[in-house]
Amino acid sequence: MKKKGFGSDYAEKAHLQKSFNSKIILELVESISAWYPNTRDNPLKILDLCCGDGGSTYEFLQKLDERNICVNELLGYDISQEQINRTDEYSCKDPRLKFKKQDVEIMNDIEKYDVIISLFGLHWMEDIKNVSKKIHNALKPNGKLMFFVPLEKPDLFQIRKDFMSLPQWKPYFKDLKLYPFIENENEYIQAFEQYFIHCTYKRGEEDKIFSEEDFMTFLSSWMQELRYISKDARLKYLKELVESIPHEVYPNVSRFWSSEDSAYKIRFKEHFFKGLGVKS
Ligand SMILES: C[S@@+](CC[C@H](N)C(=O)[O-])C[C@H]1O[C@@H](n2cnc3c(N)ncnc32)[C@H](O)[C@@H]1O
Repeated sequence: MKKKGFGSDYAEKAHLQKSFNSKIILELVESISAWYPNTRDNPLKILDLCCGDGGSTYEFLQKLDERNICVNELLGYDISQEQINRTDEYSCKDPRLKFKKQDVEIMNDIEKYDVIISLFGLHWMEDIKNVSKKIHNALKPNGKLMFFVPLEKPDLFQIRKDFMSLPQWKPYFKDLKLYPFIENENEYIQAFEQYFIHCTYKRGEEDKIFSEEDFMTFLSSWMQELRYISKDARLKYLKELVESIPHEVYPNVSRFWSSEDSAYKIRFKEHFFKGLGVKS
């Protein structure tokens, strides 16, 4: 089943997430600086789960350097070979950066890292409780976990499911189980509180207005169902899907006519969740 892993064009299409990552990275660096005031004698070893093309991993290392936080090694794991192929662009810039193709759900590292981060990756896990255990095992005693995830928008998920069952598209999705990512942050809390202490969480929201075209680009950066249809049909699929979004019906996604631009636009509310914890 073509289940996981993003395509090679992810970095070009994930505008919303990439711009959000820059803010998040600053937050992460602040937390690390507070946790580790003196890293000169004990430089950090850090793991980035679901690192994608490595662009954000590299940005993170640069910001750590700017704050004089010493890092020995920053390793990124991603399940997608296409993503890992793209990381060469960054690993050649700094020998402390390393990347490896690895499914996080089956990683088996033991007590190796001071800090584990994940930016917009853990929502793809099928068994978040098991991944929590894997992360716990991989951290050194007292190690820190920090993750950011989007929360599922049930209305957008419903629109996709309805659209996929239309007669013209249904035949493409015979072996696809469209899985939602986690909608309720309590699932993360329950999973991580088994193994982590001093946990803190924060929920955030970001409202965005997209042109129809930009919304199509945004969807195409992550919608798993697109991999089931031929490249030629994808544009038609995305266009029709976006046109099927109703006006002002749903709280998190709606289509509206903008007389200012003389065009339809999409209002979209992204929900984020941040978790921090210390290995117990
Ligand atoms: C939304 S992207 C985030 C990439 C990067 N962290 C960033 O913020 O730019 C999610 C990444 O998770 C990866 N992924 C999904 N399931 C995975 C798994 N089980 N193990 C490792 N990586 C996974 C995908 O291949 C994709 O690159």
